[in-house]
Amino acid sequence: MTAAPFNDRARVDAYDKVRGVTQYAADIQFPRMLYAMTVPSRVAKGRMTAIVTEGAMQVPGVVRVLTPADFPPPPESKGEDGPPPPPPTLEMEIAYRGQPIALVLAETLEAAVQGAEAIRQRFAYAPFSSVIDSQGSEREPVEDWFAGNAEQAMAGAVTTIEASYESPTQHHNPIELLTTTAVWADGRLTIYECSQGVNVTKGSVAAALRLDPAVVDVKSAYIGGGFGQKGLPQRQTALVAQAAILTGRPVKLVTPRGQIFHVATYRPNSRHKVQIGVDASGKMIAANYHAEHEQSRTGFFSPAEYHESPIRMYGIENYRGTAANIRIDRQAPGYMRAPHPQASCFAFESAVDELAYKLGRDPVAFRIENDTQIDHKTGNPLSSRFLNDCLIEGARRFGWENRSAMPGSMKAADGTQIGWGVAAGCYPSMMPPSIATLRINANGSTRFATSGHEMGQGIRTAIAAILVEGLDISTDKLEVVIGDTTAAPQHMTAGSWGTAGAIPGAAKAVERMRAAVAELLEGRQIAGNLHQQLASVRRPFLQVEVSEVGPGQNADAIAALRQGGFVVAGPEYPEFTTMSYIAHFVEVRIEPRTRRIRMPRVVSIADCGRVISPRTAGSQIRGGVVWAFSAALREATEIDPRFGGYLNNDLADYVIAVNADIGEIDVGFVDKPDPLANSVGLKGLGEVAMVGASAAIANAVFHATGKRLRELPIRIEHLL
Ligand code: MOS
Repeated sequence: MTAAPFNDRARVDAYDKVRGVTQYAADIQFPRMLYAMTVPSRVAKGRMTAIVTEGAMQVPGVVRVLTPADFPPPPESKGEDGPPPPPPTLEMEIAYRGQPIALVLAETLEAAVQGAEAIRQRFAYAPFSSVIDSQGSEREPVEDWFAGNAEQAMAGAVTTIEASYESPTQHHNPIELLTTTAVWADGRLTIYECSQGVNVTKGSVAAALRLDPAVVDVKSAYIGGGFGQKGLPQRQTALVAQAAILTGRPVKLVTPRGQIFHVATYRPNSRHKVQIGVDASGKMIAANYHAEHEQSRTGFFSPAEYHESPIRMYGIENYRGTAANIRIDRQAPGYMRAPHPQASCFAFESAVDELAYKLGRDPVAFRIENDTQIDHKTGNPLSSRFLNDCLIEGARRFGWENRSAMPGSMKAADGTQIGWGVAAGCYPSMMPPSIATLRINANGSTRFATSGHEMGQGIRTAIAAILVEGLDISTDKLEVVIGDTTAAPQHMTAGSWGTAGAIPGAAKAVERMRAAVAELLEGRQIAGNLHQQLASVRRPFLQVEVSEVGPGQNADAIAALRQGGFVVAGPEYPEFTTMSYIAHFVEVRIEPRTRRIRMPRVVSIADCGRVISPRTAGSQIRGGVVWAFSAALREATEIDPRFGGYLNNDLADYVIAVNADIGEIDVGFVDKPDPLANSVGLKGLGEVAMVGASAAIANAVFHATGKRLRELPIRIEHLL
């Protein structure tokens, strides 16, 4: 493969999507299908003493109501080393408001909804804690992350800064709702679900329902937005599967958005206390950082990972990162795009900005001078780092040199305050093993089956780019089969490792196929594309199978992938660490009377190694910036401390960025290959796109107004 930049290619699935042809999980229809509706608990904690289903059964069309009695008890935990236990099914014990307590099955959706509303619940109530500061919340420290000796180095610093920041509870709101359709036929269970991890879903449902995983298939051809909400097993899946098994009919559930707020994972409210010290030369030499977040009583989403990006942002040799869970009575938080760095780089990159002002330094130059090529956490080199290229190119495109440094010093003629802010971000670049099968047919079609999930990010487009760059095949009958446990062993697609998990394997398959063609033709020159060549020599097809592993992995990783295990390498590889980087430059304009914040333009330059699909990579960054705007200025879930639920649990009241909020987003890439990360030289992109952008917005608001706002979301009332 050459090292030339990849061509900009249209999305392979765009035409079907805009015509509404693409089938999402909720579009699937079967004869005799039943519609399901979950019944949420109306209390936040306690034990259900009775569940009365008679009223529901009298609704015309209701067929059956599943209650906790219809489910096996939870499986024995395999201990610390095993996979996380599947989510609970239906239980009498209530851990949070909105926990599903029954599933109503009916001939129509309307009857299922009416039946669900007719269920009566009785409880023995228990006291509960809804928010971090509630009485009864429990603080649980987790392991430290550190480099060097921060205490000693901080004592020697000539300038320090210390500040606290906060990021609110925020919920994912993919347009596609959580949905599962299950079919039980001939001793096999087939699940159609929007899942970023069909293999994990398969194992989880099998464990929850005591099935042999060999009889379970899970298919997730297209996802209407994942963002981590659809990564780990979802609570509704085993409920719907059990309903299909018990009734012998296909069952579909589309979880209403209001319920999703209450059962799905979310970005937890987190608090960050950051102290940074610099030496006389202006080099950051020490950081103390404590992070804590709200957590369910049993959840495992670790606050330690708030340190994964800050510890590697600059060449700070001495870093002490501490963290704690604050356990309360809500459902578990989890992965939501750029899960930890969204909040921690808001805090850390705000603090770096504060420090630059305190030192009277330009915030771009200050960052550039604190560059590093070492991961001080491990002492290993970084495999590639072009953050300074991002900062320099971003400053050039943005026109940073025209900035007047003093806060509040840039104004439009009508008094509108103008602020220019910068911030950077980094995110781990990881890689799962993969297994792929490529088959080229003489009839003009090609099939490539591998591991991956298409959630809108464009993985099929990236895979197709590799195949058509390397092989003379017809594109109109090119089928890329992913997100299907029957097609290839599937890793979970998350953590921005989707490209690394599919593209090096695809590149290897191309090479192997070229060798197979050469062997077949034995030097003969035959006219036409590969399909025509196969037809000429009377071969119906050629097929190759390849596997690929991450740095430091061996055949054990492939074996584990085949077994349905979870295996991913990085960002700490045996000899080096691999991170992706980005620099964001933001202009805000703040209206003098209404104090409304506008963001007319952003420049974002990323280092994600080689860019495989310029079209979809650019979209990833635009999406990340839009969400960072939304996270910085709009989104917060309102928790009701009296009853433990969420008040703004719909898209009318949970305010997100809209089209009118977003101006120009100019995206660029360094596009230099990482020499060590993988054979193709790519690094992850999806999440780093968002990292640091909320800080750049807050830093721009400070530059415009002189007001340092350390709590998200920043709203009009904070600028009055
Ligand atoms: Mo992502 S939040 O790791 O799907």
